[in-house]
Amino acid sequence: MMTLVRGGVNRSRVRAKAPAGSVATGERHISGAGRRSRLLLGAALTVIAVTIVTAGAAVADRLPQLIVFDDPSGSIATYATRDSVDMVGPFFQDLGKNGRTCASCHVPATDWSITPKEVQARFVATGGTDPMFRTNDGADAPTADVSTPMARRAAYSLLLTKALIRIGLPVPPNAEFELVAVDDPYHYASSRELSLYRRTLPATNLAFLSTVLWDGRSTTPGQSLSDDLAAQADSANRTHAQADVPLTAAQRRQIAAFEEGIFTAQRRDAEAGQLDAASADGGPVNLAHQSYYPGINDPFGRNPTGAPFQPQSMTLFGAWAGVGRESGGETAAARRTIARGEHIFDTKPITITGIAGLNDLTHQTSIVGTCTTCHDTPNVGNHSAALFVNTGVSDAARRTPDLPLYTLHCESGPLAGTTIQTTDPGRALITGRCADIGEFKVPILRGLPARPPYFHNGSAATLDAVVDFYDRRFRIGLASGEGADLVAFLRSL
Ligand code: HEC
Ligand code: HEC
Repeated sequence: MMTLVRGGVNRSRVRAKAPAGSVATGERHISGAGRRSRLLLGAALTVIAVTIVTAGAAVADRLPQLIVFDDPSGSIATYATRDSVDMVGPFFQDLGKNGRTCASCHVPATDWSITPKEVQARFVATGGTDPMFRTNDGADAPTADVSTPMARRAAYSLLLTKALIRIGLPVPPNAEFELVAVDDPYHYASSRELSLYRRTLPATNLAFLSTVLWDGRSTTPGQSLSDDLAAQADSANRTHAQADVPLTAAQRRQIAAFEEGIFTAQRRDAEAGQLDAASADGGPVNLAHQSYYPGINDPFGRNPTGAPFQPQSMTLFGAWAGVGRESGGETAAARRTIARGEHIFDTKPITITGIAGLNDLTHQTSIVGTCTTCHDTPNVGNHSAALFVNTGVSDAARRTPDLPLYTLHCESGPLAGTTIQTTDPGRALITGRCADIGEFKVPILRGLPARPPYFHNGSAATLDAVVDFYDRRFRIGLASGEGADLVAFLRSL
């Protein structure tokens, strides 16, 4: 693996574009020498970091401030607001008992998440013994047989096909509902521990978070984001890396500071070129300078400044709207497509009905909004204040045979007497409220092209599938050209 890394890392330095007045940036472009090595790079980088740590040669091989990786539609880059992307800190260290580091699942090349391609490459390279493949939460069930390579291929099926990790959570005490039936293809889940198969959220751009984890369970009201992230790091080390010794206060703080100091975005699109060229504001350096405070641009009256909601929350590519009309050219056409997609994201009317978490929050059965009603944080796309909504991703109707189906019966509260089936109760397992069943946070939308599949359970294989999901769910009636424009925009984030 080390050989592959050496082959894959292009050590030439290129000048990075930095906004006037900012510190000069060093850049290292990491492109695969071959397809296979490219697939392995994410994992291999983890290996570099781990090797460096164990070899004690820590500071010698720090990657510089901008690291760039090829991805399916161009390249993605991570920019560190410090002097380098510190690839040797506790985030990259083996601090548990099963060989995993945070970077086992939060891989820089795939927007600090993981993808099936990358997981499959690691499986092939190690016969399914890489630290990623551990039964506690990598396997479909902790009881799975992993004694042979064949058995392992079956045991890690959801990880290999959709890069899903198993999160085990109980029905909370005093919940309004009871788990009355479990249809689990892996014969493990119960009310003591439901198996929830979820995508690894990117461990980057976290300075913009309003809530931590898909169901917000690592957000403590009244506590700072840094403190939430520090506590989350310790719990991640216990659950994913099976540590029985807590991280030190210094390690937790270092991890939180690392996560809040890195910014990742698509940097170059194969058709449109550099995403910060010709007055556009794409790419990670601009993202690092994006202003943010909790509640910014919230449509539901939670902006502390009282400023009204601006549906045009994405303003990265407006400058490309009329580019090259006279002169023509493919690059200019691709840029106009992205600008049109951004405009659709910001302005296309969507009638929002039946969305638990939103229609009940606003006491309106129907809201005419846009994609940005939920994805409101300017140029980032998550929700700027706590918002958990049920868009129907975990509905029984969308269940695929590889996922469990849970039947919940509401015993008390406003929905008493109702029976609800879901593949993942989401926020309800934290609050115990029936009304919260199927609710998830609105995730950050940067770095999308590097990390398919999408949604908490990886049910949308591509960005086209995401757009198709919304078009049907909200009966938006996107013309086919509009759908393609929207996808081109999402691909440029
Ligand atoms: C086995 C894979 C795995 C490992 C190892 C792992 N994570 Fe994660 N991480 C996940 C998954 C899956 C989620 C989403 C879980 C959920 O929301 O329920 C996640 C979510 C997160 C989030 C939340 C981001 C957000 O947008 O809310 C942070 C922060 C994070 N991880 C940090 C870490 C740190 C720090 C470590 C090392 C101590 C670590 N992770 C190790 C799989 C992993
Ligand atoms: C009612 C609120 C709401 C609206 C409106 C909405 N989204 Fe989302 N979006 C969400 C939530 C919640 C999720 C996470 C859902 C899940 O995984 O269960 C999400 C997830 C996504 C994702 C996947 C992100 C990832 O990391 O997997 C994309 C892409 C996305 N939305 C794009 C859009 C686009 C484009 C529109 C407009 C056509 C839109 N959204 C409208 C709430 C919304």
